[in-house]
Amino acid sequence: MRIDTDAVVVGAGGAALWAALELAREGVATAVLTKLYPTRSHTGAAQGGVCAALGNLEEDHWEWHMFDTVKGGDYLTDQDAAEVLSQEAIERVIELEHMGLPFNRTPEGKIDQRRFGGHTRNFGEGPVKRACYAADRTGHMILQTLYQQCIKAGVTFYDEYHVVDVVFEGGDASEGGRVAGVVAYRIADGEIHTFRAKAVLMATGGYGRAWRITSNAYTLAGDGMSLVYRRGVPLEDMEFYQFHPTGIYGIGILLSEAARGEGGTLLNNDGERFMERYAPRLMELAPRDMVSRAIYLEIRDGRGIGGKDYVYLDVRHLGRKVIEEKLPDITDFARIYLGVEPLKEPVPIQPTAHYAMGGIPTDLATRVIRDPSNTVIPGLFAAGEVACVSVHGANRLGTNSLVDLLVFGRRAGIAMAEYARGAAMPDLPPDADEAVRAEIEALRARRDGERPEVIRAELNLLMDANVGVFRDETLLSGAVTKIAALRDRYASVAVQDRGTTFNTDLLEARELGYVLDCAEATAASALARKESRGAHSREDYPERDDANWLAHTLAYRREGEQPELRYKPVTITRFEPKPRTY
Ligand code: FUM
Repeated sequence: MRIDTDAVVVGAGGAALWAALELAREGVATAVLTKLYPTRSHTGAAQGGVCAALGNLEEDHWEWHMFDTVKGGDYLTDQDAAEVLSQEAIERVIELEHMGLPFNRTPEGKIDQRRFGGHTRNFGEGPVKRACYAADRTGHMILQTLYQQCIKAGVTFYDEYHVVDVVFEGGDASEGGRVAGVVAYRIADGEIHTFRAKAVLMATGGYGRAWRITSNAYTLAGDGMSLVYRRGVPLEDMEFYQFHPTGIYGIGILLSEAARGEGGTLLNNDGERFMERYAPRLMELAPRDMVSRAIYLEIRDGRGIGGKDYVYLDVRHLGRKVIEEKLPDITDFARIYLGVEPLKEPVPIQPTAHYAMGGIPTDLATRVIRDPSNTVIPGLFAAGEVACVSVHGANRLGTNSLVDLLVFGRRAGIAMAEYARGAAMPDLPPDADEAVRAEIEALRARRDGERPEVIRAELNLLMDANVGVFRDETLLSGAVTKIAALRDRYASVAVQDRGTTFNTDLLEARELGYVLDCAEATAASALARKESRGAHSREDYPERDDANWLAHTLAYRREGEQPELRYKPVTITRFEPKPRTY
């Protein structure tokens, strides 16, 4: 089936929904395609808050927020993007409040705010209350609120449509082509549908499933990044991947930083608040890269609990009222998954793969760019975790992900509407879906071959061991070689289910291909970057090296070879790079 529309939004998380809402407000015909039901999108898993310098409880300014974002990103953050983020955060949060989002309130009825890692008053003096929150379900509430607004605005949703290709007119992205639409697989019956559109937004989230211990849902396979990477679009700064300090031990499910924002502490086997030795001023509220490294060092030095590979998150002293009003979900997670009662016992935690700072490179209007000169690919947009604008630099601050998707999701909708109004409908050849149809049929027909879960399990262990919190030349070159070998094996992957009805076996096999693409770009970019910056911590190059590495990586896919790496400058407007202490 072929569907014509002005704009296609791929994904239905916060960035996608705000873009769709803006497109609806502008009267642009739009189709939102999601492989899930929209309110199951991963924005719903964001817990602790969305930051904006509202100053509801103490003095705050967007310039302080901007500074924290730049410093938190270890000065790889593009400062024009950080300025947009911190200014527009305020308007977006207030707009959400007006849409009806049930924020926690101060006794005076204002939006309540709490502390979060790396957010400070007066350019680094001490923690500030900047995170606006709805208990520990902030992302969930954002998703519900935006979805309701989209329904009210009459947005058209195609639920359980898995996008499997992005189509270009006049050559792929690298050849100067323009976007012409997408091809989608309808999960219910296996039918292929082609959507012709002037503008396409990729808003499909991250690729946390590359690691075994991850906070990410099963569906976070890097679809959007991989689909455009295969069509000549580079991936930016993939070596910068965030490990959230407090994942549930052994399974990685997130226990929000809000626990520490409310006063929770981290303890080692000696009962010591070890962050005192790593970040004496901010302690547990240091940025995530530092806290995750500190946990690993404690474990490595034998101070993990009982000598094992975890430490404790302790919220006992916060008391029942704070826990029930502000941290109800994560304390339930500890009860359900670990059988631990957080009111009485500390909770075992370990760092968990959480968030991609890198992704599809865009400009401030979310237009995708294809080279170090910022050449725009006509009609292609990206926003949210899938994109790299680059507002998070080398390390994202907690709560800046939700702001990112609000601010740049809205900007995407506005930019797409403007583009769609001025562009002619692209030519879409009748065989636009042929290549991907053939790939899917070949996968369905293959009799012998390896099962995808075997390859995925090996990839996950490899990424945990070699592309984790600490890296070095040996680990990374091992990862590069082994990922290439896994890709070779993936070429003959086989599925058991050959049917067309809800064939998740087939779709998971395709998703493994996307994860492998993202893992390849991550390992290659990390191996090349010979410095430590933010979340990229090389034990063989422990210092930040601004003279040689104050630059963004662009990784280009090369069939049968390692990615080609190019570099582009970082935008510095207000804050000159300085040593980063907390
Ligand atoms: O810890 C958290 O609540 C996560 C928030 C985030 O990743 O921004």
